[in-house]
Amino acid sequence: MKIAMIGAGYVGLVSGACFADFGHTVCCVDTDPAKIAALEDGRIPIFEPGLDTLVADNVRHSRLTFSTEVSGAVAQADVVFIAVGTPSRRGDGFADLSYVYAAARDIAASLDGYTVVVTKSTVPVGTGDEVERIIREARPDAAFAVVSNPEFLREGAAISDFKRPDRIVIGAEDDRAASVMREVYQPLYLNQAPILVTGRRTAELTKYAANAFLATKITFINEIADLCEQVGANVQEVARGIGLDNRIGAKFLHAGPGYGGSCFPKDTLALVKTAQDSGTPLRLVEAVVAVNDQRKRAMARKVTAACGGSVRGKTIAILGLTFKPNTDDMRDAPSLAIVAGLQDGGARIRAYDPEGMAGARALMPDITYTDDPYECATGADALVIVTEWNAFRALDWTELAARMPGRTVVDLRNVYRPDDIARHGFRYVGV
Ligand code: NAD
Ligand code: UGA
Repeated sequence: MKIAMIGAGYVGLVSGACFADFGHTVCCVDTDPAKIAALEDGRIPIFEPGLDTLVADNVRHSRLTFSTEVSGAVAQADVVFIAVGTPSRRGDGFADLSYVYAAARDIAASLDGYTVVVTKSTVPVGTGDEVERIIREARPDAAFAVVSNPEFLREGAAISDFKRPDRIVIGAEDDRAASVMREVYQPLYLNQAPILVTGRRTAELTKYAANAFLATKITFINEIADLCEQVGANVQEVARGIGLDNRIGAKFLHAGPGYGGSCFPKDTLALVKTAQDSGTPLRLVEAVVAVNDQRKRAMARKVTAACGGSVRGKTIAILGLTFKPNTDDMRDAPSLAIVAGLQDGGARIRAYDPEGMAGARALMPDITYTDDPYECATGADALVIVTEWNAFRALDWTELAARMPGRTVVDLRNVYRPDDIARHGFRYVGV
């Protein structure tokens, strides 16, 4: 099949490269000329493990191309995916759909022959109806269907999530469009990924419900962690104790500094807004949003408490800046709130992240960036692990002790066992 992927970001580029790898012919289109120039030059604009070789292989076999022009790609395509951003709208937290609607207008102008237009972006209920209206208004003559096909991949594991999904959700209003979508995903039958065909609105809401549920699970265990700290219990053992119950499940029960990233924060907010507008407030999700916001700031207070109640004039080494490991994505990373809180308290910040430094520099220009964990710890009063990169899992604590005048370690991801750190003379504070 011929596929046009509008938007070549974390989702569009991964999905486009994976569809090409399945044997489809894919053109990834982006309005950012620097992004397309980099891709045409063989450079990958984001860090996602395995994406460089996947893109290179498929470019070499002429299955994957790039363009800044929507028209050519759409005119030839059987299926056009919209994978542009849907960030929070300033003011009310609802999804900003301006990129989606702009893409819909561009697509409308170039449709040629029956085409399935698919929203892969995470979009509020009813967006598919509006995309259909925009295209129909611009092109009353065109033969097309609008389908919702939300994406469930995680950054850092995006390729395997895309190629081996737990399920594929297709929200289609007619059988022809649904059968085209089955053909697009036909290579995944080998993996026996269930395909759920639903109405369009149901598919749109399923995506938000999934993200809100996962965010709720994380927030639940984070609050249980706070209680554990007060009553002398171990949250990791509680998580294991409940997670072994299949009805609960072990995943997404790692307590930490609060969820971040480009999706959970904005999607929970947008869902809350949709629910309020519909007169059916989701009070549980509202609480999750509030608790998670407070938690990120509370982590700065936790570090401050570990430093004896004040960080004024102290040097704090931060290991890990991205919202999770194996990505360079800094959007809504907990590190941003934690660093700001510590700076407000008068701390000097040194930081290191394996892939997030370029993004972090743009957002936090006033901290000292270092080349590795050991340089980061040099001269520090306390070391804080914010993101659990593998590179931080086997640190040389003898070397760190030699470089740090202070002896405090705050491990916000519970990477280490307290005793292992304590034996090097450090005071260890986990979650
Ligand atoms: P992104 O910001 O990385 O990429 C979006 C891209 O779209 C950018 O490169 C931008 O230049 C381009 N763009 C914007 N308007 C355009 C237009 N009119 N024509 C062509 N290109 C245009 O965003 P992302 O993280 O890939 O997310 C995209 C969507 O997928 C969002 O709705 C998000 O919620 C959803 N999603 C993201 C993830 C994830 O892990 N990042 C996972 C599942 C779903
Ligand atoms: C998340 C979902 O997992 C994907 O299914 C979804 O497609 C995506 O959002 C999206 O809609 O964009 P992602 O944000 O890439 O994926 O990463 P996650 O692994 O879900 O982590 C999100 C945040 O939760 C991170 O800050 C992470 O550290 C935190 N987290 C996750 C925890 O604190 N504890 C956990 O047990 C799991």
